[in-house]
Amino acid sequence: RNVKRYMACRNDIRRHDAPFIAVYKSLIPAEEELEKQKQLMAKLDNLVANEWPNAKLYLYGSCANSFGFPKSDIDVCLAIEDDDVNKSEMLLKLADILESNDFQNVQALTRARVPIVKLMDPVTGISCDICINNVLAVVNTKLLRDYSQIDGRLRQLAFIVKHWAKSRKVNETYQGTLSSYAYVLMCIHYLQLRSPPILPCLQEMEPTYSVRVDNIRCAYFDNVERLSTFGSSNRETIAELVWGFFNYWAYGHDYANTVVSVRTGSILGKREKDWTRRVGNDRHLICIEDPFETSHDLGRVVDKFSIRVLREEFERAAKIMHQDPNPSAKLFEPY
Ligand code: GTP
Ligand code: MG
Repeated sequence: RNVKRYMACRNDIRRHDAPFIAVYKSLIPAEEELEKQKQLMAKLDNLVANEWPNAKLYLYGSCANSFGFPKSDIDVCLAIEDDDVNKSEMLLKLADILESNDFQNVQALTRARVPIVKLMDPVTGISCDICINNVLAVVNTKLLRDYSQIDGRLRQLAFIVKHWAKSRKVNETYQGTLSSYAYVLMCIHYLQLRSPPILPCLQEMEPTYSVRVDNIRCAYFDNVERLSTFGSSNRETIAELVWGFFNYWAYGHDYANTVVSVRTGSILGKREKDWTRRVGNDRHLICIEDPFETSHDLGRVVDKFSIRVLREEFERAAKIMHQDPNPSAKLFEPY
């Protein structure tokens, strides 16, 4: 009888696959937008090569990790191998060059936590932030993109979770909720832990890609085209995964004692990371380990107020997935 009830429940949730897929499709950026991004990058490449011949520009963040929404700003990293590079001077110089080449709203923010130059390209209408030597972000962007090539359900789940987080206003790090980067890691981790797994743990496999960045060795298996059938023995569908994801973060996760870790494809104890108490501003109320900077908790921005907001939103989402006749509409109702 339990099997029967389970099947009935599963069929019930699968009725919602089509509407969730429709939401996902509506969020994918159009091809022409990607073309415009390339056009802008080519222009920036030229300007930078003229001034700094040994520098290289990389896209990072959602415009390059395959989890980007339409009309996003683009994030660019200027990488230059020069031990005594003065970032502020370089950013001011770059701002000068951009202004004299007709870019608009050019602004050098040299005192920010991550110093950047902002600009708007009047030809494509795209806004862009350029930072210097933030190479780890370029590498973690590649990791996310590589994971997204393995099983299409990751991109579906992550788009839906990001869309939910933006609609419900829990994607604002300056207000103590989580970054998009953190949400995508939570999705990867959730799919690594399915049974059978939908995603492997690339950092536990024989590395085919390895770079050293700021003394951190970033190594993992990146021949992902070889893994295109990895998740196929798991037949869970998008509605089931959305349901399971929110159920996990509402009722299943042990916030007091555990850390989610994409690096190991497992759940770690807070004790082994020494994340059991508040250190400075890092409260470790929800712990998500950065895959490369392992001392870095992406939940560090969360405080005692925002953790309640987050958990209430996870519970709201889980309840909607359990009970609502039309979850794919209700889930994204603006906060
Ligand atoms: P949206 O702009 O919201 O669509 O998403 P995004 O993927 O651009 O995310 P976000 O703006 O949160 O971050 C941009 C990129 O910066 C991420 O893709 C990461 O590569 C990097 N990043 C963001 N936060 C951190 C962080 O705390 N640590 C590290 N190492 N990298 C980060
Ligand atoms: Mg971004």
